Amino acid sequence: MDANTKPVVAIDGPAASGKGTLARRLAAHYGFAYLDTGSLYRAVGQAVLAAGKDPADEAAALAAARALDVTKIDERSIRTREAGEAASLVAVMPGVRAAILHLQRDFARNPPGGKKGAVLDGRDIGTVVCPDAAAKIYVTARPEIRAHRRWLELKGSGSTVSEAQVLEDTKERDRRDAGREASPMKPAEDAHLLDTSDLSIEAAFGEAVRIIDKSMS
Ligand code: DC
Repeated sequence: MDANTKPVVAIDGPAASGKGTLARRLAAHYGFAYLDTGSLYRAVGQAVLAAGKDPADEAAALAAARALDVTKIDERSIRTREAGEAASLVAVMPGVRAAILHLQRDFARNPPGGKKGAVLDGRDIGTVVCPDAAAKIYVTARPEIRAHRRWLELKGSGSTVSEAQVLEDTKERDRRDAGREASPMKPAEDAHLLDTSDLSIEAAFGEAVRIIDKSMS
């Protein structure tokens, strides 16, 4: 890493693995800027739905990706089950990924607010977006645990979806995210694996700090 390069922490992993909570806390701890890259794919998926189009429609998804304005993402509308599903569909398209790639790299290179580094979370940060990241963590948890966490979140925001349905969705999303050809979800060879199935948020955070401090020293 040369003197002008700011350190990047790459946090990857499947849906509802706890990586978002962890990445946000890590960014606060290190004074780094934080980017939830899933929110970019969700915003594209949601824009396609809002335009009354099918998220599997490649032309519609590409147009939405090229028009994406990161300062105008509506946090509430992208957190729904439908937006997550649409995100996973548009994320298989290489054109959509290419349109979003430079936004992510710009963020990593020039963290907003003059911050001294960046934490990015997603599926392909350590493998494709920032392969030179100073620290890489791949966060996992058993599907049943992840589905339970996601179900609690959805219930909290008024959804009546069953836990069994959320487990089905989670497994389907894993299959699609890991099985696609363009930047599939997978740990980078030099990523540290962190299974949060039986860890509290506090314990997962402590373990992540230990990994990052060691990687950056
Ligand atoms: O982390 P999330 O559930 O908000 O992500 C939504 C979808 O976006 C996910 O199913 C796959 C896609 N995604 C991706 O392909 N690459 C990323 N770096 C982040 C998310």
